[in-house]
Amino acid sequence: MKSILPLTLLTLLPSVHGAPALPKRQGNPPLRGSEDLLGYSPGNTLTGQTTEDIEYTLVPGQTEDADIGSYLDFSNTENPQPIRGTLGGTDPGPRNAELDRQNSDKLAPPGTDHGQTINANWPMSLSKAKLGLDGAGWSRQENVVVMPGATKMAGVDMRLEANAYRELHWHVAGEWSLVLNGSARIQAINEDGQTFIDDVTEGDVWFFPPGVPHSIQALDVGVEFMLVFDDGSFSEDNTFLATEIFAHNPKSVLSKNFDLPISAFDDIPDGELFIFPGTAAPTDIEQQNVSTTAGPIPREQTYSYHFSEQPAHEVAGGSVKIVDPLTFPIANNFAAAVVTVHPGAMREVHWHPSSDEWSFFIRGQGRATLLEAPNIATTFDYHPGDVAYFPQSRSHYIENTGDEDLVFLEVLQADHFSDISLGQWLGSTSKQIVGDTLRLPQSALDHLKSDKQYVVAGSTNSGTGADTGSSSSSVATSTTLATTSTIISTSTPTPGR
Ligand SMILES: *[C@@H]1O[C@H](CO)[C@@H](O)[C@H](O)[C@H]1NC(C)=O
Ligand SMILES: *[C@@H]1O[C@H](CO)[C@@H](O)[C@H](O)[C@H]1NC(C)=O
Repeated sequence: MKSILPLTLLTLLPSVHGAPALPKRQGNPPLRGSEDLLGYSPGNTLTGQTTEDIEYTLVPGQTEDADIGSYLDFSNTENPQPIRGTLGGTDPGPRNAELDRQNSDKLAPPGTDHGQTINANWPMSLSKAKLGLDGAGWSRQENVVVMPGATKMAGVDMRLEANAYRELHWHVAGEWSLVLNGSARIQAINEDGQTFIDDVTEGDVWFFPPGVPHSIQALDVGVEFMLVFDDGSFSEDNTFLATEIFAHNPKSVLSKNFDLPISAFDDIPDGELFIFPGTAAPTDIEQQNVSTTAGPIPREQTYSYHFSEQPAHEVAGGSVKIVDPLTFPIANNFAAAVVTVHPGAMREVHWHPSSDEWSFFIRGQGRATLLEAPNIATTFDYHPGDVAYFPQSRSHYIENTGDEDLVFLEVLQADHFSDISLGQWLGSTSKQIVGDTLRLPQSALDHLKSDKQYVVAGSTNSGTGADTGSSSSSVATSTTLATTSTIISTSTPTPGR
């Protein structure tokens, strides 16, 4: 066998040595070059261009020790560079500078990042919108196709213009939703034939259990909502629709089922309507409240929770609101928090012992470091419309990296909202043990708190100030550097790294 291969190859190869150079032509050059271009030749030409004169400015924090890992604000930086402390170097391109500006922790990761975690950031801006009919709305989804590590939950951001419908439907997954903007009327029926109807507005939550068919119609202000499903492989394209169940059962069967003539189904749609314009819902909800012998769904099993009317629990760096099965029982596996983090503040380092976390960024900007055992860490930057995903028991924080409040949603698959706080754990452990392990000074041990903080206060962290006054700082903040060597020479290597 072995001897056959070289022989075969030889017969396939053109005779390199005998091939004449292609004649120089004035016209359109051929698609391919000549074999003369293979490998070394004394006649090869090299570019005379130098990459030494790349112009860029370093931002505050960029020259400090990489392990300090301050947030680097590249938003107004012409030519952000993959440089952090003594690490990295310039990037002559090609690159997408706009994405680099938005993701400074990817371009110049903190020195504490290590290895490759799952991808924990998906901007809905990269999801293809599914457009509704006649300008009635759209949806965008995140699921395992785009975020393979997000196996337990998926999300759909949906917009319905005034009076538009999301077509009557049901699905195998349970559907939890937070209204992001506007108002909608929602209706459903459960397996006992009990009916549900309610109007929900910005900040309210609903839940439809698996298989429960439901209706969503925007009121006259329009609506946008974030749907979260208890299955990472959920797809908006695979729901059970009223139109499809009519389109794909024999008309004779429909006729028998409804005790109607076949002609009653002459005008049914051929296929899905998905999102389509509707006639305005009557303002008086009673007009659409259908009474059945089974009666309405009892209050303790109702499908909506008026979360918008729940006051926020204030904490040092912001506020937290929790809705979970303790107050919204029908959503028996959805525990959620809406967290507000003031500028400079941070949702403290924590993890969720009983569930993965699916998050959505509503306002402001932030970053998080996902830690996977034992030492794999990636820092991700988040903007409004981004999905985050932190698997069960993997630690993370959410730091506000902007100058306005950061608001985001955390969703767990759990019967109550729970987390373990790093600060509370260590603050509730013997100082002797903590001191022996982490070699913290006594003053630091005395400072540890045994209460859960949820959101800690802090100052805006674009540069900790650790680099001010050093020689590299003046270079970094005030000068457009002409050469890479300037940077390297002004940076002092960190001992022991
Ligand atoms: C809802 O959308 C309107 C129109 O864009 C906007 O003015 C308003 O601020 C939005 N509300 C929220 C809570 O985002
Ligand atoms: C709908 O009607 C039922 C009585 O059949 C009543 O209990 C329920 O409150 C009504 N719902 C609304 C939203 O008015």
